[in-house]
Amino acid sequence: MAVTGELRLQAVSRTFHVAGAPLPVLAGIDLAVPPGAFITIVGASGCGKSTLLRLIAGLDTGFDGAATLDGQAVAGPGLERGLVFQEPRLFPWLTVAQNIGLGLLNADLPKAERKRVVQEHIALVGLSGFQDAWPHQLSGGMAQRAAIARGLVNRPRVLLLDEPFGALDALTRARLQEELQRIWAAEGITMLLVTHDVEEAVYLGDRIIVMAPRPGRIAASFDVHLPRPRDRSDPALGEVRDAVMAALQMATPAEAAQPATIPSHHAALAPVFLPAI
Ligand SMILES: Nc1ncnc2c1ncn2[C@@H]1O[C@H](COP(=O)(O)OP(=O)(O)OP(=O)(O)O)[C@@H](O)[C@H]1O
Ligand SMILES: [Mg+2]
Repeated sequence: MAVTGELRLQAVSRTFHVAGAPLPVLAGIDLAVPPGAFITIVGASGCGKSTLLRLIAGLDTGFDGAATLDGQAVAGPGLERGLVFQEPRLFPWLTVAQNIGLGLLNADLPKAERKRVVQEHIALVGLSGFQDAWPHQLSGGMAQRAAIARGLVNRPRVLLLDEPFGALDALTRARLQEELQRIWAAEGITMLLVTHDVEEAVYLGDRIIVMAPRPGRIAASFDVHLPRPRDRSDPALGEVRDAVMAALQMATPAEAAQPATIPSHHAALAPVFLPAI
């Protein structure tokens, strides 16, 4: 099989401008993700995790440095890179099935086959019976599950997941973690998953990346070689979790938990930075 899903970031930096002042959000990110790896990313709110996923997705090309997938420079969005946003972002004028089917529009599939694939993914995320529902008729967690199905349906080479399980109850969350691992193992999709849940990061990741804020950079990374399926109560996982938590605390200075200093006439727009834990 051809090597696919190898992601490389070299000296990636991104600076925004807020109220006329430069805001360095990412600085000097170097990352080599082998094909088919499961990478999880943790870091304080506002440290640039979503920014990083967006630029890998090709939605933000205003960065410095190099980002490549299988040797091809990332220059814009592409079907080989799927993104599940932090918010579900379903199109309100399309049903659940139509939203999920969107990713398949470019695929050369007969209509009946397309319908089958969409139904399969609706069942996968536990939304059977809601295929004809409109987004406003879904709960937040259901909408997020529809968005996960939409990200998966096209079987991208890399799937970028931005806190995909944040809005889910504990049981659904655990079930979807299992499903995601099953699909990952079966399809060999490279996964980059951002989460605020250190347990989740350690349970799912081959490698856990800890980011430090202002500007966002990689502070530490931990390789987890434990076999799968993993036992959530395995003491070895607990040790990694404690190490990741300690690195996260070290990487997140107290002031990162405070609102950023911005001019008073923009006070209403002040971003609120929460502590990581
Ligand atoms: N388009 C933009 N213009 C200006 N600043 C931006 C823009 N997008 C993001 N930022 C800033 O970049 C920083 C990182 O934002 P980002 O959304 O990547 O954080 P995050 O790590 O995903 O946080 P969270 O955990 O809260 O989702 C923040 O300070 C944010 O205000
Ligand atoms: Mg984010």
